[in-house]
Amino acid sequence: MSELHTARGRFITLEGVDGAGKSTHAGWLVDALRAAGHTVLATREPGGTPLGERLRELVLHEPMQLETETLLMFAGRCEHVRTVIEPALARGTWVVCDRYTDATYAYQGGGRELGVARVAALEQWMQPGLQPDRTWLFDVPPEVARQRLAASRDPDRFEREAQAFFERVRAAYHERALAHPQRVRVIDGSRPVEQVRAQLQAELDDLLEQAR
Ligand code: TYD
Repeated sequence: MSELHTARGRFITLEGVDGAGKSTHAGWLVDALRAAGHTVLATREPGGTPLGERLRELVLHEPMQLETETLLMFAGRCEHVRTVIEPALARGTWVVCDRYTDATYAYQGGGRELGVARVAALEQWMQPGLQPDRTWLFDVPPEVARQRLAASRDPDRFEREAQAFFERVRAAYHERALAHPQRVRVIDGSRPVEQVRAQLQAELDDLLEQAR
């Protein structure tokens, strides 16, 4: 009975090229939502389920065809949406997901030049209806992202790509923002962390207000 009266949670996704800074802000965002009184699930793609995490290892490190890579992204997403994300939203939990379908449009569709139509077809087949309520797109010029990544760690298959790849990824993300202006909000991630956080705080207040 009470389930019927539980307000559905909100689905938030974080996007951006590697090195744009989304991981820096993800933890802060989760804490801020909890402080506002919400139950929050933090998750990621590729990954988010035991099978999804195994697929993540494969897509990040094994050489494969573009079609295989794209299908594995959606295979992991299917498990994630059906067994984790949808049930959480239904019980009123807010879900913060580090990357989601916009990343497939950006990386496979744009970066690897598969194009929008193929990704859209898979999206339609797998998950009609489940769109994020809000997507924060952390945007930085590829050269800034590269410098940040170079300082950090062992690169995976995506992080090893040339700058032109990241320029295409970024352009494809911008197209997503233009096509979905209500949902996708662009955040200039090249500014100092405090400034980015101030914008995120304002955006978050707006979203919390709407959810009231
Ligand atoms: P990322 O969030 O960058 O993980 P980490 O911060 O731990 O390196 O995601 C891993 C990579 O997966 C990233 O380079 C983008 C890529 N990716 C795709 O190519 N397509 C997708 O659909 C998703 C979800 C991620």
